[in-house]
Amino acid sequence: MIQVSHVTKRYQHSVSVVDDVSFSVREGQIFGLLGPNGAGKTTIMQMISTLLTPSSGDITIYGLNTKTDAREIRKMIGFLTSEVKLDPFSTPDKLFRFFGDLYQIDRSVAEQRKEESFERFGIEPFAKKKIIELSTGMKQKISIAISLIHNPPVIIFDEPTNGLDILTAHQVTNYLRELRADGHIVLLSTHIFSVAQDLCDELSILVDGRIVAQGTVSSLMELTGAATFENAFFDLYTRYHKE
Ligand SMILES: Nc1ncnc2c1ncn2[C@@H]1O[C@H](COP(=O)(O)OP(=O)(O)O)[C@@H](O)[C@H]1O
Ligand SMILES: [Mg+2]
Repeated sequence: MIQVSHVTKRYQHSVSVVDDVSFSVREGQIFGLLGPNGAGKTTIMQMISTLLTPSSGDITIYGLNTKTDAREIRKMIGFLTSEVKLDPFSTPDKLFRFFGDLYQIDRSVAEQRKEESFERFGIEPFAKKKIIELSTGMKQKISIAISLIHNPPVIIFDEPTNGLDILTAHQVTNYLRELRADGHIVLLSTHIFSVAQDLCDELSILVDGRIVAQGTVSSLMELTGAATFENAFFDLYTRYHKE
């Protein structure tokens, strides 16, 4: 279980970019953070992944606190974000070897995981090519496979289908459904309505760093009385966005 309780993040001399945010995510659930650019999604995910420290509030994962148990928590998390770039002159093969060693995974286990994900995502033909020569979709699939090399119970994916063609996006969303069915905890951020609607069991709507509504797609539509989920979002956004 991920538990985020009254978390605020303030950079020096600035207003809160994340403001009193609380939510929890269970095993076997895909939880979404939906909001426009600048809403605070990446900041929240970086705090959960222990890369940023909250100004106030607490985050626990299986009872471990991000402030005191960062080492243990990092091992339990698969984190994907566009902020991290693969070394352009490395190859998928070398990257797998590197991250397998980094996580101290037995080489034979790492090799097996690599084969599974190379097959799933069609990476095999590109295994020895330089990253710089690969398409955006292929790079994203490699990033996803690497982020899960240590088979973490908690998956935190920041905008996982951004910039992907529809086929690759479909492969990624199907994979997330499989991981949910296997009992993983999945937290993702998105600003794409169809991703939120098709994939997420529950959502937080973020506007200016605050959660303005939370629930299932249908409960959010009921709450606003909107006919479509997109309209429900825009109703909430108009109501809560500070000029
Ligand atoms: N290092 C930083 N210093 C000051 N402000 C920052 C810093 N990083 C992000 N921000 C601000 O925090 C807000 C939330 O950003 P972010 O979490 O990236 O939003 P999102 O992922 O939803 O687009 C934005 O207004 C952004 O400009
Ligand atoms: Mg972001």
